[in-house]
Amino acid sequence: MNSFSSGERQPVYLPLRRTGRGLRTDPYDGVVDFEPGRIGTLGILGAGRLGRVLARLAVSAGYRVVVAASGDPAPISRAMAALGATAGTNASVIAQADAVVLAVPLNRYRMLPAELLRGKLVIDAMNYWWGDGVRDDLSDPRTSTSETVQRFLPGARVVKALGHMGYQDLEDEARAAGVPGRKAIAIAGDRADDLDIVCRLVDELGFDPVVAGPLAAGIMLEPGAEAFGADVEAAELRAMLGRFPSSQRGIVVARARGGRLWEKGSGSDD
Ligand SMILES: NC(=O)c1ccc[n+]([C@@H]2O[C@H](COP(=O)([O-])OP(=O)(O)OC[C@H]3O[C@@H](n4cnc5c(N)ncnc54)[C@H](OP(=O)(O)O)[C@@H]3O)[C@@H](O)[C@H]2O)c1
Repeated sequence: MNSFSSGERQPVYLPLRRTGRGLRTDPYDGVVDFEPGRIGTLGILGAGRLGRVLARLAVSAGYRVVVAASGDPAPISRAMAALGATAGTNASVIAQADAVVLAVPLNRYRMLPAELLRGKLVIDAMNYWWGDGVRDDLSDPRTSTSETVQRFLPGARVVKALGHMGYQDLEDEARAAGVPGRKAIAIAGDRADDLDIVCRLVDELGFDPVVAGPLAAGIMLEPGAEAFGADVEAAELRAMLGRFPSSQRGIVVARARGGRLWEKGSGSDD
């Protein structure tokens, strides 16, 4: 099932899980937990439905969370404080963050501050959605939308994740590791070390991480593919990804890419 159109449901809150094995001085708050290979401060660009749920889950998981909407942080600062997060401008959020989640409408990706994101781990949760209008650059089956975002953000390390599950399911389904029925979130990226970091984030947010493949394989998580909207356990999510090549969408994508879907990258699970 998916929750892109679901009604209101009661959220299930995760217990706070702090895992810090060390401390570092934080220029804003004093001292925070720090663990090498783990994101300490998570930035989120976008304070809408997705951005707020991710902020809440990340705060519950022990991350320091900073969030920006499109302009002045004042209108969202109270709501962010209620979640345990801090509001800022795009620039201040990016400056503070170890990794930045893109949770803005995809049709606005060209407004992202590419220079500021240079060198950052960027987690692309954006989808080409009906509200984005008709965009040739976002609907070309030869490229995943995350590859398009990566080209716009040279020097950033883009990983696709947290975009295929509806925000309401994210809110409702987060569970501690090992709890039966825990749902899974797929991740696509080109660098093994970044995939490891994002897998850990996904796990700590309350979901089983499933590596789908390189960034080009992110097209399996986009609207039009079976895994888009998936709110399923890891085995079923892997099965959906496995069916992609023989699906109607997979055949269209392979044809557009000259008969091959993508090269196996470091991100490949298989
Ligand atoms: N909704 C879901 O269930 C869901 C699930 C997975 C993925 N996604 C994807 O996540 C993205 C956001 O979806 P949403 O439903 O959360 O949208 P939304 O509720 O409309 O929120 C969009 C947010 O993006 C902000 N924003 C717009 N341009 C920005 C910019 N240049 N810099 C910083 N923030 C900016 C908006 O701020 P202002 O209000 O100031 O304009 C607003 O806070 C979309 O790409 C969507 O496909 C959504």
